[in-house]
Amino acid sequence: MIKANLTFFTIIGFFVLNSCGTNQKNDQLDQRVNALLAQMTLEEKVGQMNQYSSFWDITGPIPKEGSAAKQYDQLKKGLVGSMLNVRGAENVRKLQKIAVEETRLGIPLIFGFDVIHGFKTISPIPLAEAASWDLEAIETSARIAATEAAAAGINWTFAPMVDISRDARWGRVMEGAGEDPYLGSKIAFARVKGFQGDDLSAPTTIAACAKHFAGYGFPEAGKEYNTVDIGTQTLHNMVMPPFKATIDAGVRTFMNSFSQLNGIPATGSKYLQRTLLKEQWNFDGFVVSDWGSIEEMVEHGYADDAKQAAQIAVEAGSDMDMQSLAYIDHLIDLVKSSAVPETLIDDAARRILRVKFELGLFDDPYKYCNAEREKSTIGHEKFQEVTLEMAKKSIVLLKNKNQLLPLKKKGLNIALIGDLADDKTSPLGNWILAADTNSAVSVLEGMKAYEGNNLEFSVGVKLHTGVLEFAKELNINTSDKSDFTAALNLAKTADVVVMVLGEHGFHSGEGRSRTQLGLPGLQQELLEQVFKVNQNIILVLNNGRPLVLDWADQHIPAIVEAWQLGTQSGNAIAQVLYGDYNPSGKLPMSFPKSIGQVPIYYNYKSTGRPTLPSPDEVFWTHYQDEQNAPLYPFGYGLSYTTFAYSNLKINSQNDTSIDVSVEVTNTGNVQGNEVVQLYVKDHFARPTQPIKSLKGFELVDLNPNQTKTVHFTLAEAELGFYDNDGKFIVQPGDFSIYVGGDSTTELNTKFKL
Ligand code: NOJ
Repeated sequence: MIKANLTFFTIIGFFVLNSCGTNQKNDQLDQRVNALLAQMTLEEKVGQMNQYSSFWDITGPIPKEGSAAKQYDQLKKGLVGSMLNVRGAENVRKLQKIAVEETRLGIPLIFGFDVIHGFKTISPIPLAEAASWDLEAIETSARIAATEAAAAGINWTFAPMVDISRDARWGRVMEGAGEDPYLGSKIAFARVKGFQGDDLSAPTTIAACAKHFAGYGFPEAGKEYNTVDIGTQTLHNMVMPPFKATIDAGVRTFMNSFSQLNGIPATGSKYLQRTLLKEQWNFDGFVVSDWGSIEEMVEHGYADDAKQAAQIAVEAGSDMDMQSLAYIDHLIDLVKSSAVPETLIDDAARRILRVKFELGLFDDPYKYCNAEREKSTIGHEKFQEVTLEMAKKSIVLLKNKNQLLPLKKKGLNIALIGDLADDKTSPLGNWILAADTNSAVSVLEGMKAYEGNNLEFSVGVKLHTGVLEFAKELNINTSDKSDFTAALNLAKTADVVVMVLGEHGFHSGEGRSRTQLGLPGLQQELLEQVFKVNQNIILVLNNGRPLVLDWADQHIPAIVEAWQLGTQSGNAIAQVLYGDYNPSGKLPMSFPKSIGQVPIYYNYKSTGRPTLPSPDEVFWTHYQDEQNAPLYPFGYGLSYTTFAYSNLKINSQNDTSIDVSVEVTNTGNVQGNEVVQLYVKDHFARPTQPIKSLKGFELVDLNPNQTKTVHFTLAEAELGFYDNDGKFIVQPGDFSIYVGGDSTTELNTKFKL
């Protein structure tokens, strides 16, 4: 056992950095970077700022100009600093060989890839992992992704995406950690640590990239790439904290955003990249543009042409150009004509080279290109086990009327219905560039492993038609109901019906905004028809964002939120359905009752008229046709057991901190894990603050009848906020603390600061 674990930890490389000597190491690094820079021509320095995609995977629009021949030619001349989307250690080695052996200075390339939720072994989508609230598990998940990617030659991931978002219409919410900046910051920190470890030069760790800086998660109307126009309070208190957390974790790169923020494209924003990131936060890594976002400043109406866009971007602090060709085509001229000072080029090249040195690429440019290591690491069985645990932790039980769940293991006739139940690709989610299609365990396979029941499957309705590709629209079936009858016949005679419905993995993600958030296609109709013949339904949802589930909540007795859970999806779902795992996930985003409520989030600000003054009066914050509350609030999730909270009290308070405790008891019959959540309400603040904000959480594991006391410490970081100038302040006054199992908890106590 010990041996197995040791092997595992060796594989995933838990290296400890000897901290004494760090400063000395930094000085040596600076000397090496500066010595190299001094030898470089202007062209070579600009070359370091140029990044191309390979043709294995295209993760953005294909550039208008540029070709493989041109890229190859530039590569040999040392005019390319980085490549993305290169597949496999051998191919990385070939390209690296050109850079190292054929260019004048032999500067190695840095290889980027979207290692977002796994590489080959796919873990749950990031939004699902966030539902676990389990920071250790999330860090380990990122570590596994890094280990596999590093074994395939990759040394830089474009993750974590730390964009806070409140808008489920925006397809990219699947890639973030949800709506809350506190939870988002903790997860951002854990993910960076997971990818980078403590030693970037280890062959199992890769550089992380905090993206998309900044505001990308607030596009108007949830429409992809749309304008972002937000106030300073939202910017400093909602958008920025997770980015700041990645700095605290030592993240080595940032990616800017496609979107414009308050009239300035993020890629061209000096305030974001120079003032805030590099000056105030002292970030000494580098910023990569998003795919083509430098040249896209022309479409934004912010630059006249690509040349001007290159000038704006470099002045603003974008260090590397992903796929625009704007830097390589124009920066040399811009410097020669004195429009851009060469010091800006030096600064960008220095930052990029520094990260390459830190990765150890100058000591061994092929350290990530070991085909043997690739073979023995990728898909390692231990990774499967860990991914299964992560998947189970990510599941959220939304409803369980009459304890329909967990299912008995013997003697049941179960009808399993839904195209997604038999799908082995969709559970892998959206970012599955290196994964094999058809490689996830389906729900059908997972449930079949429980042999005591009679399980029959019927597709019910085809979810989609046509191609399934990362870059292509997904066509949803809206007309073919030919599979309805067989499913209804099966449901009629079943003791219980398990319906797996929701979104395909390619229905959320980049470029996949939606205006309707119900079950896509004909699935709602199928659900209602099955309900007419058998009401004993367990609805298992697969989706990459909050859905509108009002009808299901009113009619269906049991609902399980299973997102897209990755390679081990079907096993995780089956173990939860059969009670071999007691679900403990909690929603990281509010689920609306109606689409018109979106964006809906728990940490809103009070209006001047928050409550109904007297019956029938209209002068208060409300809708005529919908309630204000969401269907399922932030932080919500059930268990097969129940928990009671008592004895919330403030134990001590001094000038620097407050100690709060609460007792949590398992009042049911089975062991369970609870995410104990603490929210703070600042009653009076200038500028005003949300009606409550998450400021602490703790995972507790409780046996039946067991009680544990959970302590929280609140200090300045938890009680203050950013003012409109971005300055962190703590204001004295009245505060309330709320503790419980979700954001609507009413158990509270007060204190004065
Ligand atoms: C565009 C996406 O916005 C970004 O997140 C991703 O890393 C790049 N494409 C590279 O694929």
